[in-house]
Amino acid sequence: MEIKLAKTAGFCFGVKRAVDAVYKQLEKEKDGHTPIYTYGPIIHNEEVIKDMEKRGVSVLKNPEELEELTEGIVIIRSHGVSEAICEKLNKRGLTVVDATCPFVKKIHSIVKEESQKGRHIVIIGNPEHPEVEGIRGWAGEYATVIQNAQEAENFIPGPGKKVCIVAQTTFNYNKFQDIVEIILKKGYDVSVLNTICSATKERQAEAQSIAEEVDAMIVIGDKHSSNTQKLFEICQKACKDTYYIQTLDDLDLNQLGSVETVGITAGASTPNNIIEEVQNNVRIIF
Ligand code: F3S
Repeated sequence: MEIKLAKTAGFCFGVKRAVDAVYKQLEKEKDGHTPIYTYGPIIHNEEVIKDMEKRGVSVLKNPEELEELTEGIVIIRSHGVSEAICEKLNKRGLTVVDATCPFVKKIHSIVKEESQKGRHIVIIGNPEHPEVEGIRGWAGEYATVIQNAQEAENFIPGPGKKVCIVAQTTFNYNKFQDIVEIILKKGYDVSVLNTICSATKERQAEAQSIAEEVDAMIVIGDKHSSNTQKLFEICQKACKDTYYIQTLDDLDLNQLGSVETVGITAGASTPNNIIEEVQNNVRIIF
């Protein structure tokens, strides 16, 4: 039997950087007593979060929890945070390790600069996603989050009538284009910056091409990870024997008994050791 493992399976550059930052702090502080926190869960993966908690990392869930801290190291995850949260962290004298993905950081500086120049910032993305909340928090008074065509139709810019459009890094490119078209037709002075990260697109394209070639496909990732769910949908369309698993325990190896080729991919928050464990065990049964 042949196993085709996607090269893009697992952590993207930004997530890997953030997870590494936590383990690096744990190593540095292993003999110390400084508490370590992450602002929000560092990734959507129960296994990794549990492991970090076991080693003493606590997750801060909201800005109010910051008010109670008097000391410690706070690690900012790849999604980034608003300017107000950054200021709050600094004011409280906490040590900040900023693991915001550089691609997200870039959007923060774009929206800050452009809003200072008087442009109304439009963020195309999901308003409830922490990355979008963070970007919104750098964008000044005139900022609007738009996630569908209807909202784009209803959009009216602030007094300057100048607009700057950016996107959530994981937004769907075609949907982004459609929304941009609607806003462009309104005839304002609009600058468009496509800030979608290519990591998601590449992972999806590779997953689809592998799924089209194999007899069975395994998608590994947390059940709550939206990018893994999307990967599963894509693979299922291309290969009817597609399995969505969180860890090796969820995989019934007997189901793979009669297949000749198996593809494996994983979401952006799936650690390498889980991917390797699945790959090795699939290999053993044949
Ligand atoms: Fe960064 Fe792109 Fe990952 S923006 S966090 S490298 S999906």
